[in-house]
Amino acid sequence: MITSILLSALLRLSTLTLCCAAVYNSFSTLPSKDYDFVIVGGGTAGNVVANRLTEDPKNSVLLRDLETIESELNLDLAFHVNIDAFQLDVPFFALDVKFQYDWNFTTTIQPGLNNRSTIMLRGFVLGGSSSVNGMFYTRGSADDYDRFAAVTKDDGWSWDNLQPYIAKVILVPTAYPEAFANSNLLQNEKWEPPADRHNTTGQFNPSVHSLTGINAVSLGGFPQSIDPMIFEAVDELGSIFRFNEDYNSGNPLGFSWLQSTITTEGRRSSSATSYLAPEFIARENLDVLLHARVSRVLPSVSKNSSSGFAFRTVEFAQDLNGSIYYVYLTSKGSLLRVEPGPLLKVDASKEVILSAGVVGSPHILLNSGIGDAGELSEIGIKSLVNLRSVGKNLTDQVSIINEFMANSTNTIDNISRNATLLNEVYTEFNKTGMGPLVTTGGNQISFFRVNESLTEMFGDPSSGKNSPHLELVPGNGFFGPPPPTGHYFQMATVVVSPASRGSITINSTDPFANPIIDPGYLTSPFDIAAMREALQILFRYTSARVWDGYILSQFGALANITADSSDDVLDEYIRNNAASPAHPVGTAAMSAKDADYGVVDPDLRVKGVEGLRIIDSSVFPFVTSAHTQAPTYAIAERAAELVKFAWM
Ligand SMILES: Cc1cc2nc3c(=O)[nH]c(=O)nc-3n(C[C@H](O)[C@H](O)[C@H](O)COP(=O)(O)OP(=O)(O)OC[C@H]3O[C@@H](n4cnc5c(N)ncnc54)[C@H](O)[C@@H]3O)c2cc1C
Ligand SMILES: *[C@@H]1O[C@H](CO)[C@@H](O)[C@H](O)[C@H]1NC(C)=O
Ligand SMILES: *[C@@H]1O[C@H](CO)[C@@H](O)[C@H](O)[C@H]1NC(C)=O
Ligand SMILES: *[C@@H]1O[C@H](CO)[C@@H](O)[C@H](O)[C@H]1NC(C)=O
Ligand SMILES: *[C@@H]1O[C@H](CO)[C@@H](O)[C@H](O)[C@H]1NC(C)=O
Ligand SMILES: *[C@@H]1O[C@H](CO)[C@@H](O)[C@H](O)[C@H]1NC(C)=O
Ligand SMILES: *[C@@H]1O[C@H](CO)[C@@H](O)[C@H](O)[C@H]1NC(C)=O
Ligand SMILES: *[C@@H]1O[C@H](CO)[C@@H](O)[C@H](O)[C@H]1NC(C)=O
Ligand SMILES: *[C@@H]1O[C@H](CO)[C@@H](O)[C@H](O)[C@H]1NC(C)=O
Ligand SMILES: *[C@@H]1O[C@H](CO)[C@@H](O)[C@H](O)[C@H]1NC(C)=O
Ligand SMILES: *[C@@H]1O[C@H](CO)[C@@H](O)[C@H](O)[C@H]1NC(C)=O
Ligand SMILES: *[C@@H]1O[C@H](CO)[C@@H](O)[C@H](O)[C@H]1NC(C)=O
Ligand SMILES: *[C@@H]1O[C@H](CO)[C@@H](O)[C@H](O)[C@H]1NC(C)=O
Repeated sequence: MITSILLSALLRLSTLTLCCAAVYNSFSTLPSKDYDFVIVGGGTAGNVVANRLTEDPKNSVLLRDLETIESELNLDLAFHVNIDAFQLDVPFFALDVKFQYDWNFTTTIQPGLNNRSTIMLRGFVLGGSSSVNGMFYTRGSADDYDRFAAVTKDDGWSWDNLQPYIAKVILVPTAYPEAFANSNLLQNEKWEPPADRHNTTGQFNPSVHSLTGINAVSLGGFPQSIDPMIFEAVDELGSIFRFNEDYNSGNPLGFSWLQSTITTEGRRSSSATSYLAPEFIARENLDVLLHARVSRVLPSVSKNSSSGFAFRTVEFAQDLNGSIYYVYLTSKGSLLRVEPGPLLKVDASKEVILSAGVVGSPHILLNSGIGDAGELSEIGIKSLVNLRSVGKNLTDQVSIINEFMANSTNTIDNISRNATLLNEVYTEFNKTGMGPLVTTGGNQISFFRVNESLTEMFGDPSSGKNSPHLELVPGNGFFGPPPPTGHYFQMATVVVSPASRGSITINSTDPFANPIIDPGYLTSPFDIAAMREALQILFRYTSARVWDGYILSQFGALANITADSSDDVLDEYIRNNAASPAHPVGTAAMSAKDADYGVVDPDLRVKGVEGLRIIDSSVFPFVTSAHTQAPTYAIAERAAELVKFAWM
């Protein structure tokens, strides 16, 4: 039953291919158990790697050499129980699906949030977080990647050298010319017309986009009533409020039209619908095993690695019922102990690749005895590889949704309030791929730097002078709780270059117990000062004449503050209302080969061990100054190339 729902989710994009041979629900039914590569986590990055490592050998010289790859196993956990999986594809339903297909993690009590604990959303479905995210497509700034290159001493991570993986073959990367010689289809991005096919001239810069990648990106496909006002305010105010034709050019500062991972049919483009599209999942050298929850990677002796270990075996439990099998050991009717049920193993002859994400990857490493030796031994886990940075330097951004009452009936909240109207627009979506359900309620995005007095006082956590610290996102009554009656306008403020750091640790020898997630939100004085400045920018923006008579009042918690509020009052608003925009990174950071910290080398191999790489958002050494899926895709594309090159 679960299978058929899942497969419809994957196959509905094409009614032509009906092949399902490569997707398995149970380890025992897999035709082969000999794999070159085992990829843990079928999420955003994992599916890129699975796709690229199994590309048709005829497509390039590189891949001919890969004929020795017999197959791969892509382990993931996917549940589509009692849920209409079609919802995942409808952009407007992003706010619902993110709770339905979630790992349900919560953070520790956060002192920076007035001792609140908050949710830490992570996609629990094939496609991982790309199947549930807000679909914003933001690459960050050129400086973000140049900082990656600087801290890893690997110029391959620079903005210019990553372009072939993002959008365009601008330069032939010097390190791996062979890999590019015969390929023109390496990019992540596939630019498509917006769902409503409106004239997009002047709304983006075509020269920084690619038409030939895999993952669809488009401008907003449904006009919002506030669209003209957004830019009128920019024209009126000037200064930091300036129009930027394309924030994905490497220079994001200013107000731009938003680009999203949405297809021209108005559907979500996730790594599952794109990189695992039917033609890819049908490859004979790719097996996808669902309902497999990985507990550890297991060691073998290696003479080549400094730790003396290789990790080419993956241990996991099958999870067909929506929860891990546990064995209940009882005596005379009373419970003695609960243990994880039968654990299975699968070997990779070449490499195990962890793509379990910013929470999953460090969790698996720690379970396996790879982490801070002292901390592991304290909880009774034998340390095999002493890597103190595993789980450390967790970096997330913080955001607040600020809400205003609007003098309008043309706001998107009319759909969430009115079941008849929802049914009408859902019918329109199903028939035409158009209408309000093809967007997430807003068509613009904007980025700013804080005032220099702040960076002088606290230091500058951003990657460079063209990198934003702040993001403001307008919306036509979509995010945030709606008022009981009336219509609304909202604007999110986000600190995108935070200085606060947190950690992911474990507190249990049960590998399936949730890890302890402490993002350390707003623990750095820079971050709270930066959010105060974001609110001041918001008040300046909404003071533009065009909003007179449109914005009626502030509502909800925002009603408590004004531009003239004291820092104490603003801080109280911030600490009581800030939450995660779900962009955590950095828990298995890459660093230079000779660095005394970090988890992976610049080629994403786990330091000091053999046969184990990490490819996902946990390897970011810093958070990029925007939303994190596009950078995750770019890193995964290049990393897949590094793996291929290593085995050429
Ligand atoms: C609700 C939400 C909204 C977001 N909005 C945006 C946005 O609008 N724009 C944007 O750019 N970014 C957004 N992001 C962030 C972005 O989606 C993530 O940064 C990115 O997708 C992370 O990719 P990843 O490959 O590192 O991890 P994931 O995509 O999360 O993949 C990890 C995979 O590993 C699996 N896994 C984990 N542990 C195990 C285990 N032990 N065994 C087996 N499998 C395991 C997971 O189920 C998942 O499939 C959002 C994220 C969320 C959650
Ligand atoms: C999280 O909760 C949702 C429902 O609230 C549920 O469908 C989902 O299976 C849960 N996730 C996990 C990992 O248990
Ligand atoms: C948060 O908890 C700590 C420790 O219990 C306490 O000292 C502090 O006063 C609390 N802060 C708030 C705002 O309640
Ligand atoms: C699109 O708009 C541009 C400028 O606004 C105009 O020059 C062009 O002719 C338009 N294209 C079409 C196909 O209408
Ligand atoms: C050790 O490294 C050498 C050279 O890098 C390689 O040829 C050999 O196969 C490796 N041995 C093992 C056991 O991986
Ligand atoms: C699922 O769980 C139920 C009870 O919770 C159990 O009876 C059943 O055997 C389980 N199914 C599988 C496939 O393990
Ligand atoms: C955290 O990152 C910084 C660089 O930003 C580095 O200097 C430090 O050593 C890291 N800490 C750990 C524990 O890895
Ligand atoms: C609802 O809001 C949308 C989006 O602003 C608008 O296009 C539409 O006309 C509104 N519909 C009704 C019935 O008010
Ligand atoms: C709900 O939407 C329907 C269809 O557009 C409309 O006829 C009806 O008036 C709306 N109801 C309310 C209370 O706005
Ligand atoms: C739209 O199509 C989906 C998938 O077939 C279906 O589940 C949903 O009910 C449809 N919605 C309407 C309003 O017809
Ligand atoms: C860690 O586990 C111990 C023992 O179960 C418990 O007392 C403690 O509160 C836990 N710490 C955290 C941060 O969960
Ligand atoms: C609401 O807008 C209408 C026209 O768009 C205007 O006449 C009216 O004065 C506005 N209401 C308020 C309270 O500003
Ligand atoms: C406004 O601030 C007061 C005092 O801090 C607080 O009690 C109240 O809940 C706040 N109102 C809202 C809507 O958050």
